[in-house]
Amino acid sequence: MNILVIGRGGREHAILWSLKRSDKVKQLYCAPGNAGTAQIAENVDIGEFEFDKLVQFSLDNAIDLVVVGPDDPLAAGIVDVFEAAKVPVYGPRKNAAEIEGSKIFMKNLLKKYNIPTAKYETFTDYETALAYLREQPLPIVIKADGLAAGKGVTVCFTREQAEEALRETMVSKSFGAAGDKVVIEEFLEGQEMSILAFVDGETVRPMSAAQDHKPVFDGDKGPNTGGMGTYSPLPHIPQSIIDESIENIIKPTAKAMVAEGRPFRGVLFAGLMITKDGPKTIEFNARFGDPETQVVLPRLKTDLVDIFLASINGRLHDIEISWSDEAAVCVILASGGYPGSYPKGFPIKGLDNVGDALVFHAGTAEKDGEIVTSGGRVLGVVGRGADIAQARAKAYEAADRIHFEGKQNRTDIAAKALVQA
Ligand code: AMP
Ligand code: GLY
Repeated sequence: MNILVIGRGGREHAILWSLKRSDKVKQLYCAPGNAGTAQIAENVDIGEFEFDKLVQFSLDNAIDLVVVGPDDPLAAGIVDVFEAAKVPVYGPRKNAAEIEGSKIFMKNLLKKYNIPTAKYETFTDYETALAYLREQPLPIVIKADGLAAGKGVTVCFTREQAEEALRETMVSKSFGAAGDKVVIEEFLEGQEMSILAFVDGETVRPMSAAQDHKPVFDGDKGPNTGGMGTYSPLPHIPQSIIDESIENIIKPTAKAMVAEGRPFRGVLFAGLMITKDGPKTIEFNARFGDPETQVVLPRLKTDLVDIFLASINGRLHDIEISWSDEAAVCVILASGGYPGSYPKGFPIKGLDNVGDALVFHAGTAEKDGEIVTSGGRVLGVVGRGADIAQARAKAYEAADRIHFEGKQNRTDIAAKALVQA
């Protein structure tokens, strides 16, 4: 098969790496890709939003399957465009991707179907939102309705911070039109976990659970990022909690989407908080997580091509999916300054000195035969081992051998799992 993966991050590099292991694959393409995807696929210089060009490329190159990585082209309806052109495509249609594209849609869906989530109110008017905010207990969470590269959520511990976040979102428009509407919601206390699932209508095939680290600095300090590191599995979380999340949150949500006439086909990703009252939904994403994918797919034993094809052909229920017992830990190496502004173009050294660690490229480019930084999150370094401690040691050993100017990374990825295991 000829397969085209759309996107340019670590998630897409990990998807390609996993596809590459399948004996059904003839040629892999990535549009637009990065310097890492270029090593296992042919990069195609077409952007994620150039739908017509992507379709034309697929028709011209006998593409048998298109896999869409990022959230924004999904929310913009890229899958509907490929379907109309009769090109097989894996991912949710526009009306199903709205579960991520609009937090208000997601919250109202969960409320309607009694699926556990934080209590909330939604607002389109700043003054009304501010008046409500002033009456709420702290901490309180303010969320831009639309997509904001993982940065549209502020957890506020003081009144000043809360009012500032609301102003930034609704008045200063720091997240653009995503902040025209906001959700103000109850703060949930507990540990977070991510459960991704392959979903086709009411069929749910969960992946092994993972945990992300969103804040930029150690100890969960500093502003939120797209994710600074992940690990899987979660030895300190009882299987009963994972099962409860699947039964009470993910399966009912898949069912609700069918009932709403928006059947979901693709990866449904639940961001969950394990509260003292059980798991509750923080968010839903309509795609693979980044960097969750980097630790989950290396543990997948089933052929990923088979899973995608079964979904597209309405046979996902026939597939048994199995996972390796091995643990995986991903440490993100980011540019100095991220998630704020940062300089780019620094040469990256040590990439070929990482032993058996996997290095998934996120923000890299090739310049004059050299690999250089070109994004906020630059690389995801993945260590694998018999348990989290071993995987973590390997990831950090490899991460320490890679250098570029301004490199920053968290040093406490997966530390929680060690303390509580
Ligand atoms: P989101 O982009 O919706 O995943 O939110 C980003 C991060 O903000 C989450 O990973 C949580 O750490 C935090 N967060 C979001 N909503 C809540 C909430 N209701 N209570 C506590 N933390 C939250
Ligand atoms: N790592 C969180 C996300 O992909 O949204």
